Amino acid sequence: ASLRERNTFRIQAHAKRLIEVADAAALPEALAGESARPMVLGGGSNLLFAGDPDGALVALTGVRSKIVSDDGDAVVVRSDAGLEWHALVMSMLARGLNGLENLALIPGTVGAAPIQNIGAYGVEVRDRIHAVEAFEPATGRSLRFAPAECEFAYRDSLFKREPDRFVVTAVEFALSRDPAVQVEYAGIRDELAAMGVDGTPTPAQVADAVIRLRRRKLPDPAVIGNAGSFFKNPIVPSDQAAALQDENAALPIFRGDAETTRKLSAAWLIDACGWKGHRDGDAGVSEKHALVLVNHGAATGMQLLDLARRIADSVRKKFGVDLEPEPRIVGAKW
Ligand code: EPU
Repeated sequence: ASLRERNTFRIQAHAKRLIEVADAAALPEALAGESARPMVLGGGSNLLFAGDPDGALVALTGVRSKIVSDDGDAVVVRSDAGLEWHALVMSMLARGLNGLENLALIPGTVGAAPIQNIGAYGVEVRDRIHAVEAFEPATGRSLRFAPAECEFAYRDSLFKREPDRFVVTAVEFALSRDPAVQVEYAGIRDELAAMGVDGTPTPAQVADAVIRLRRRKLPDPAVIGNAGSFFKNPIVPSDQAAALQDENAALPIFRGDAETTRKLSAAWLIDACGWKGHRDGDAGVSEKHALVLVNHGAATGMQLLDLARRIADSVRKKFGVDLEPEPRIVGAKW
């Protein structure tokens, strides 16, 4: 099966087989005789095919969501893994179920959301996850993970550290009818002001602000192939961050995962090395955002990977900081 329309970089790759499963209960039978770690394909929005995947690919096509508990304020919603993430966000908001609004317009599926702990504009999905359900092909077990068992970290989880060990089949979200919003991220407040919203915004207005911001700042994968941020924002010891800021006053620095660490803006570091808008054939760096690699048409995964490596080399030389890719790279090692 051709994978070109199944990855948002729109790279030409082939799968030996694509196994589509509508109901998670059918997984044991559908995967019998396959490898113990079949690759799972969601929306293909966080993937770089530098080669063809080895065995069969599994895709879950179930898209149902339903309320599983409701105390009038706190509501738990369970969604099948195959539902498109943004569709879940919008349908929850339409029903007055709040909490996912800052994560509007993130490409990909519900099942992929916990894998790299998607996050944007001050919220990470771990903040809203109630449980993750998964199937483990090697043992045939169906498992249920509480949030603490998912080992979430910035753009990371148990599921990401052990690729393909689990097939995420459903996710439960802890949502709320309380319209309290998270607008700590300055960019959201500025956008709300530009929209003419004053006073406390509604969750729907926050989603609108996020959608406007993302449309303006990030290239649309429907228009030009890309997988969002190609690198994670590097987390470094606080003293290294302070030293870098002494020399580069404009470098944006965010809080890290502990008191002793800080997160640096990878986009700024890459921009400062002159890469924004750079193009080698069809492999390039977005003109809109230095952290996003783009496929102008016929780039191969290896060409994009080569560009990514050169970007990381130049950032290491100039700033002494290592960049790590955010998307999963298939068929090659970083
Ligand atoms: N910047 C530049 N040059 C650019 C773009 C940005 O110097 O070309 C600087 C600006 O100073 C800006 C700062 O970088 O203030 C941060 O940029 P932005 O607000 O776009 O956020 P980011 O750190 O680049 C992260 C996530 C995004 C998420 C945004 C908003 C990562 C790897 N990326 O990007 O997530 O949407 O914050 O919260 O953490 C993704 O993961 O695919 C993704 C798009």
